[in-house]
Order: sequence, then structure tokens, then C-alpha cells
Amino acid sequence: MKTILCIGAGYVGGPTMAMIARKCPNIRVIVVDIDAARIAAWQSDRLPIYEPGLQELVKATLNKNLFFSTDVAKGIREADIIFVSVNTPTKTFGQGAGQAADLQYWEKTAREIKANSTSDKIVVEKSTLPVRTAEAMERILHSGNKTVHFEVLSNPEFLAEGTAVKDLENPDRVLIGGHATESGQRAVAALADVYAGWVPRDRILTASVWSSELSKLAANAFLAQRISSINSLSALCERTEADVSEVAKAIGMDARIGSKFLNASVGFGGSCFKKDILNLVYLCRHYNLSEVADYWEQVVTMNEYQEDRFVRKMISTMFNTVAGKRIAVFGFAFKADTGDTRESPAIRVCRFLADERAAVVVTDPKAMDNAKKDLADLGGKIVYEADPYKAAEGAHAIAVATDWAEYKTLDYKRIYESMVKPAFIFDGRNCLDHKALFEIGFNVYPIGKVPLSQL
Ligand code: UDX
Ligand code: UDX
Repeated sequence: MKTILCIGAGYVGGPTMAMIARKCPNIRVIVVDIDAARIAAWQSDRLPIYEPGLQELVKATLNKNLFFSTDVAKGIREADIIFVSVNTPTKTFGQGAGQAADLQYWEKTAREIKANSTSDKIVVEKSTLPVRTAEAMERILHSGNKTVHFEVLSNPEFLAEGTAVKDLENPDRVLIGGHATESGQRAVAALADVYAGWVPRDRILTASVWSSELSKLAANAFLAQRISSINSLSALCERTEADVSEVAKAIGMDARIGSKFLNASVGFGGSCFKKDILNLVYLCRHYNLSEVADYWEQVVTMNEYQEDRFVRKMISTMFNTVAGKRIAVFGFAFKADTGDTRESPAIRVCRFLADERAAVVVTDPKAMDNAKKDLADLGGKIVYEADPYKAAEGAHAIAVATDWAEYKTLDYKRIYESMVKPAFIFDGRNCLDHKALFEIGFNVYPIGKVPLSQL
């Protein structure tokens, strides 16, 4: 029986391995992590991450052909294929701080693989990495070692949070990058065979290692760029009385543009977009391509502008002051259907509001624990309230930061009655029924649309 090991039981490693175990009953899948609490959580009824359908997926194979463990060395010894999906955050120190990827966990993992391998291995880069990382990894793996052969592949993950299970089950494509050598191509074929357990062959794409590494950065940069593009136009719509949803619909019907990823918002969040664009920017600067670097950097600049613009609009609308005013922030996760708050626009929004001395109340169905951690340094300045009705009680305004489905079906009449008048709603996701809210009595401020104001 073939054994697959995954090092790093995070948002990517956990769900991906659970899917492989489910679809390939003849493969033994082991997931290891240095974080013992995380490993224990994967084996419990309270998984360390929230994803629709994930609990059922894990349950179906747990301790049958899917195993979680903290014994990294044993896992390495037993594995034929090793996925590495440890985190690669943006560097916070030294050269490239704030932009380059911090590869220390990756390198440490490579050394661990080398130290514990007694047979040939295929090592799969699952983490998003700068282009040509595989080269460094190969050198580390092979240094001073002549007996064991390591073949490094790049196999970036394109799943989106909140839809991870669906995306893994039915991916647009699976990308495998390998070397053109005979052993490289053999490794590519071995990994393709794993995915062929459930993914149609014509969606399994092969490429060179470098193209594969770059494609992951490029995909995230393009996706984020679309959001920044529509968000930039949302600012213009607000000045010109054009409606950004109408513009998005009109341009999206052009098959060359396409309709997806054109929802104007308070800004994009998530662990990947900003990190990967800054990584791309750093790479371009490294290769003296400053115009290319500046071009992509603007995508991040525009996102920060949009987040700040949202709060500035709140302040100017609410008579140029929010000091002492209770403001209920609806949603803290970076998108719906996840408890993840990494780079969530709500973080910057809450901090800005707290700086303006607003009494910020945060509510979210899944992300309250993470919100408390993210804003821990603000201490008593932020109130956390799981019930959105209670959060809105006595508030001057509601700011919608996450498009949770449940926010669409709340009893807004009840909410309106409990709020201070004039009552404002700033819909940072354009996800509510603005006309209905206006009819209840709210002053409604969407993104990129004419506001519905009673004043
Ligand atoms: C992944 C990828 O790794 C990242 O490159 C990509 O851009 C986004 O998705 P993610 O799964 O979201 O990251 O990261 P995280 O949830 O932080 O999981 C990483 C796990 O690796 C953690 O559980 C951490 O404890 C573990 N880890 C880290 C190790 O087991 N060993 C280490 O040396 C470092
Ligand atoms: C992204 C990529 O989609 C995925 O392929 C990659 O593997 C990891 O990064 P993720 O960050 O999980 O996935 O979520 P995504 O759905 O892409 O949303 C990112 C952010 O953009 C969210 O904050 C979301 O609310 C925002 N967004 C998305 C918009 O503001 N408007 C849109 O039209 C789409």
C-alpha cells in the first residue's frame, strides 16, 4: 500500500489529505504537525478549522486510511510521497521584511525530510512558494547524500476557503510541475495517478516546476487584481451616481472578461492574496523589474485604500464624528463560511474605528475567537457579542464586513427599533436588500451605489 505523508495540518494540508484519503481508499494518508493541539483537534469532533462538509469528510476515513500524528520522523520514514504544506508567511524581519516569503519552516522541513529518509521520496511543494524555491530544496535534500533520491514537484493548491471541500472534489484543474528528466516525469506521473482517483485526466495539467510555482502566484494576483479593479471603480461610481453592480454585470457579460470575482467590497482578505502579491512584487524587484513590481503592488495599495475609504465614508456620513458612538461590525471573517480572519478587512476597519474612539461591537457566527486574538491589543475598546441583535442594540450604525448568509435574513425591523436614530447601515459587501432596509427607516450606504438616505 502506498503511503502519503503531509507535513503541516493547516487550512490546506488537512482538507486536501482528507479528500485524498476519501477518494483513494488504497492509499494510506498520514498528516503530521508540530502543533499537538491541532493534531488532537483533527481527531476530535471539533476540527481546528471550519469548512462546510469537512467534518463528515474527515469522519469517513479517520483512523481507516487517514491518520493524524505528531511523529514527523516516523511519517517521513514510511512515506513514498511527502506533501509539504507548512506555512510560508510574509517575512517580518531582515531583508525583504514585509514582502518576501519567510521560508524558514520550509527549509527546516526539508532538512527533517533529509535526516529521516532511508528510501527514495517524491517531495511535493503544496505551500505557495517563490519561484525557484524547489531548486534550493533539492540542493538541501541532496547535499552530502548519495543514497536516497529526492524528486521535488510543485503542486500548488487552488482551493478557496469556505468552499474547500467542493473545490477539492471538483477542481478546475490540478497543476503538477516537475523536471523534464526521466525521474522527474516518473514522479509527475505517480502524483497524477493519485489525483486521477477522482479528477478527470484532462483537468490534470503538467508543467515545469518553475511555471507551476509562478502560476500559483499569478492566479492569486489576477484574482485580487479583478477585485481591486472593480473596487477602484466603486469609488468613481459613488461620485458619478453610476451603480457598480450594473457596471460589473455589463462588463461581466463579455465572455472575454467573465462575470466572476467582480463583486465590489470593503476589500479582499485571506491568507493568500496580499502575501502572494507582495511575494511577486519582491521577486520582480529582485530581478530588477521595477515597473512590473510597481504594477502589481498597486493591487494591494488599492485594497488598503478601499478599506480606509469605507471607514472614512462612515465618519463623514455620521456628521464627521463616530467618537463615543456604538458601531456594530457584522462579520469578522475575511469571507463567509469560514472562521478564518487572516488579513480580514474587518481588522483594519475595527482598528480605524477604535482610533476614532467609536464603541466598536464585533459579531460573527464563526470567527469570534480569532477576532479576539486579532484585536487583543485593543483590550476593552472592543466589545464582542455573538448575537447580532444584541450587537446592534443601542448602536448608531451597522457596518457589514462579511457576507454571511444569515445577515440577509435577520429581522431588520426589530434591529432598527433597537438602534439610535438616525440609524445607518454601511453594507461593505452589498449583500443586503437595500430598498427594504430603506423602507424600514435605515439610511443605507452600499459600496459603489447611490446611498438611500432619509436625511
Ligand atoms: C497554506 C500554505 O502552506 C501557504 O503557503 C499557502 O499560501 C496558504 O495555505 P495554511 O495551510 O493556510 O497555509 O497554513 P496554516 O493553517 O498556518 O498551516 C500550516 C501548518 O503547518 C500549521 O498547523 C503549523 O503548525 C504547521 N507547521 C509549521 C509544521 O508542522 N511544521 C513547521 O515547521 C511549521
Ligand atoms: C484564494 C483563491 O481564490 C484560491 O484559489 C487560493 O488557493 C487561495 O486564495 P481564498 O482567499 O480562500 O482563496 O478566498 P476567495 O474566495 O478567493 O476570496 C478572497 C477575498 O476576496 C475575500 O475576502 C472575498 O470576500 C473577497 N472577494 C472575492 C471580493 O471582495 N469580491 C469578489 O468578487 C470575490
